[in-house]
Amino acid sequence: MVAWRRIRTGTYCGTGKIIALIMALCVVGQYVKYMYRNDIPVVFLEKKRPNTLEDIKNILRVSKAIDKYFKNSVFSFSRKRVLDYSAPNYYSSPHQHLLKEKQIEFRYEHFRLVEPHFSNEADRKLFLNNSIYVKDLEAIPDIRLRGTVAVQENAVAYEKLDCGWENTLADYQGNGQIFFNGTLCPLLVPESNAFQHFIDGVLPKLMQVYDYVINSNVYFLIFEPRDTLIYDLYHKLGISRGRLVFYEDKPMKVKRMINTCIAPPIHPALWQSGREALGLSADMIVPMDQTLVVLIKRKNTHNGGRRMLNNDLVEKFIKNRYGNGGVRVFSGELNFNETASLFQRTRIIIGVHGGAMYNILFAPRQTSVIEIMPTQNDGQVEPPGLAHEIIWFQAHLLGQTYWRLPMLPEGITSDVRVDISRLEILLNKVDKDYNRNIL
Ligand SMILES: *[C@@H]1O[C@H](CO)[C@@H](O)[C@H](O)[C@H]1NC(C)=O
Ligand SMILES: *[C@@H]1O[C@H](CO)[C@@H](O)[C@H](O)[C@H]1NC(C)=O
Ligand SMILES: *[C@@H]1O[C@H](CO)[C@@H](O)[C@H](O)[C@H]1NC(C)=O
Repeated sequence: MVAWRRIRTGTYCGTGKIIALIMALCVVGQYVKYMYRNDIPVVFLEKKRPNTLEDIKNILRVSKAIDKYFKNSVFSFSRKRVLDYSAPNYYSSPHQHLLKEKQIEFRYEHFRLVEPHFSNEADRKLFLNNSIYVKDLEAIPDIRLRGTVAVQENAVAYEKLDCGWENTLADYQGNGQIFFNGTLCPLLVPESNAFQHFIDGVLPKLMQVYDYVINSNVYFLIFEPRDTLIYDLYHKLGISRGRLVFYEDKPMKVKRMINTCIAPPIHPALWQSGREALGLSADMIVPMDQTLVVLIKRKNTHNGGRRMLNNDLVEKFIKNRYGNGGVRVFSGELNFNETASLFQRTRIIIGVHGGAMYNILFAPRQTSVIEIMPTQNDGQVEPPGLAHEIIWFQAHLLGQTYWRLPMLPEGITSDVRVDISRLEILLNKVDKDYNRNIL
């Protein structure tokens, strides 16, 4: 199977399924292969590089057929690897296709969040006493599983529209104080000047539209990054600095807008595409017995608090357990390459809830994420208003195993003192799964 690469995957329903299958087979030619894996139709593109015009046309036909017949269907992309960036004609085409279609609708596959893992039943009961979490475990309504990529002429972009799944395309009509004479994709997600809200807000929307804009003259309207890592991430995605336009706090009239704001707020297809588009592997890149345990230390945080008060003791305990060589302490001072290469080899990530935990995006499916959450005895998390679900969601979307260790907060900044014996019980369970995997 290594000779093939996946281009698109998805499940879809009704007669469309049969039509798409026949259609795909008809246009398959010699470069594309169609098969089922776990009941999900998977289209493979042969690794051979398309080098004649005829090759490119073939691939394009397939690509368009798939788009057309997967439209309004459950759909997930496999990006980057799909596309051969050295074939310019091929690349400009998904963009041309979008301009012709004006609007492409996606209905994303249903999925359900699963409960976190806990070290004991009492922790689970505490979690389930929080009504927010119980609601999270309900089925995701259809309205949160739809996506739209639309081309809008003379549209307006402004920050009051939060670029969210609740927007309608009509919201983008109106007047602006600044005129942008070109094609612009607005990504004005609130607080997305910070690394974590780039990841949970911008990246999924960007992934929905990625194939259609990556090789094009589309500019991206963003809030000027506070965290320089965001520039590295755009660079990794193939978007140069010159294509980023910073929002100037005034409504902007845009000659042509590529609107991707209506996208599921959370969905595995979009998160996994993000990891892949950043050039990261979804599977562990080293043998399991050479993997690392990473302890996240909150250090240079923008909002203080949620510190691990007995950090040294925890570090000592973990090093004792896994050996000095098998443990890394991460406090965020690494560049993109260093961060990515560390997390790509990580089997266990341990940390108190905070922005640095978002680095789990760089980790593969085999990683176990242990989040220590300041939690009161009635199940309420501290401080109130904390986005306390996101790491759980993210780990799940990325196919990782998520563990939650609630700890009673201390003081007004919700710091925690980790109970080593409870951590030990939890790690015994994590390691048991791990041993099962390497046997
Ligand atoms: C926008 O740019 C085009 C050329 O790309 C030019 O013909 C047109 O006059 C410009 N419009 C405005 C309002 O600047
Ligand atoms: C990161 O790695 C890539 C290749 O893997 C390299 O081209 C780039 O220069 C590296 N960047 C830094 C900042 O080290
Ligand atoms: C569950 O939560 C409610 C409301 O927060 C609280 O009043 C109650 O005491 C909690 N029950 C337990 C067993 O902690």
